[in-house]
Amino acid sequence: MKVAIRYYSRGGHVEAMAEALSRGTGVEAISIDEPGAEITEHVDLLFIGGALYNFQLDPLFKEYLSEIPGDLIDEVVCFGSSWLTRRPIYLMQDYFKEKGIKINKQAIYSRNRPNDDLLGVIEYFAKNEMTRDRSLDGLPPYMIFKRSQELKAEREAAAAEGREVAEDMEHKAKLAQLAAEDAQAEAEAAQAAALEAQEAARIAAEEAAAAALRAAEKAREAAAELAAAKARETAAVVAEVVAKEEQEDVEEAAGEASDDE
Ligand SMILES: Cc1cc2nc3c(=O)[nH]c(=O)nc-3n(C[C@H](O)[C@H](O)[C@H](O)COP(=O)(O)O)c2cc1C
Repeated sequence: MKVAIRYYSRGGHVEAMAEALSRGTGVEAISIDEPGAEITEHVDLLFIGGALYNFQLDPLFKEYLSEIPGDLIDEVVCFGSSWLTRRPIYLMQDYFKEKGIKINKQAIYSRNRPNDDLLGVIEYFAKNEMTRDRSLDGLPPYMIFKRSQELKAEREAAAAEGREVAEDMEHKAKLAQLAAEDAQAEAEAAQAAALEAQEAARIAAEEAAAAALRAAEKAREAAAELAAAKARETAAVVAEVVAKEEQEDVEEAAGEASDDE
């Protein structure tokens, strides 16, 4: 099985995850800005990792992702790190969705720096991915059940022969713990999204209120303008009437004066 590991790491956290994958697979982990990072041959499984910086993937990494040749890669496992959420993984997966590359359901996430436990699990996961029976992928549940029964029988036989299975159990427990941590991160991400939506709604309401105030102010100004125009009109009419009356008075006085003569 041909495997490749590519990553981008500024501070070493993602690099530590890539190194654990490298130990598990026996394949060199290559930073995307190193020579030889370009994928030029067919790869069965690509492990690709990056982190979140200012809500985004690094621009250089984004460029690398957009240039990855979709036709050379069968499947990807994304791994990533951030302070809070799995967003770097979703951002990476978007590139592969677009290219039509199969995305492994398992993604590896580390909140900030991976601890030794997580690195151990990553190493085990990588080892397992190298040997996992991919023929089960996409099979109907009853087939997977059948296969799992076979595996169970194999394990029981191994146990009966005194072969070691305890380590297997330990790794399973660690994987379950990882899944629980993932679920918690998901819940926190959902909560963060809800808070963001709430904040957006508050801003929208404030903007709407400000717009209503501006509209009311404009209406007041228009009403005042109308009232002033009306007052001007009335004053003009009154002035006209007064002028007319004065004219009549003058004419009347002139008439009286000529009568006196
Ligand atoms: C400049 C900078 C910006 C970051 N921005 C974010 C962010 O927006 N959201 C987040 O969850 N984590 C953020 N982080 C945290 C990193 O994603 C996290 O520390 C990660 O483990 C770094 O991986 P690296 O050591 O491989 O570079 C930021 C870290 C740095 C240094």
